[in-house]
Amino acid sequence: MKGGPVRIALENNSFSRLFSNTISFLLRDGLQDYSVLKRYILKFLFFVFCVWCLGCGQSAQETQNPRLVIAIDATFVPMSFLNDQGELDGFEVDLIKAVAKNAGFDYELVNVEWGGLFGGLITNKFDLVISSITILEERKNRMAFSIPYLQSGVAVLVRKDIQNVDNLQKLAEIKATVGAQINTTSYYFLQKYDGINIKTYEKFGHAVIDLANKGNDGVVGDSVQVNYYFNKNKELTQNARFLGSRMTSEFYGIVLRKDDFDLKQKIDASLTVLLKNGTIQKLHDKWNLGKFAVVPLPEN
Ligand code: ARG
Repeated sequence: MKGGPVRIALENNSFSRLFSNTISFLLRDGLQDYSVLKRYILKFLFFVFCVWCLGCGQSAQETQNPRLVIAIDATFVPMSFLNDQGELDGFEVDLIKAVAKNAGFDYELVNVEWGGLFGGLITNKFDLVISSITILEERKNRMAFSIPYLQSGVAVLVRKDIQNVDNLQKLAEIKATVGAQINTTSYYFLQKYDGINIKTYEKFGHAVIDLANKGNDGVVGDSVQVNYYFNKNKELTQNARFLGSRMTSEFYGIVLRKDDFDLKQKIDASLTVLLKNGTIQKLHDKWNLGKFAVVPLPEN
């Protein structure tokens, strides 16, 4: 009768019934048989230990291995694009994977168009952006940049049937229509030339298609991209001339929110390792960036 009152008080639901049965069992048999009680206590302690371990594992994962959402614009061959299997691929995809591995964070890559990258980062839709983004003072007012991982610049393609033109000044003199992706350094570069009629596009590839269709007289884009289209996409550029090499010197950086100091430190440290140990140069070779982009020397 030792366990009676407990059983009566709790018998309304099955959990409490189990509990009350256990207590009464302990009181009845456990107290009489010490080894039974000991077994119960050991089982209980083991259970508490397992729960504690699970909790620790989870919080260690949360603190050491945060899952970051990284946005990338997959329209920039060979820097980032969708391959034949429909997967994200390219120099910057390889690079960000190496950075994540080195810094020890989990990540998820999301494909976001150029126009949505900066706004999405600032409004916390993602945590990092890598997309051949030039480090610019004006952009630093709103966002933070990692140390540079590549030096690049802009280059120009002009329609073959437009003769006696070998620079942008000439294009300005003949009041040419020149295409560029909107809000890029190529677009800002064109704004310096009075006389050029700037035609903007959401994607650089659209500007090249328009050039092939004589919708513009020339296009300006990042040198690596222009080189890719000129050498690998002859179908679109067979009626175009390449006006020489890079016309500006720009540095690409990974973009972060301004207050993400810890993350910036981790990314910079990883980039420094990858610049020093030759990983980034190997990726430059793998993706045939040639003279159109240069791997910078790490600062320290
Ligand atoms: N480097 C240029 C800039 O930062 C163009 C970048 C365009 N990148 C892209 N993935 N569409 O303005």
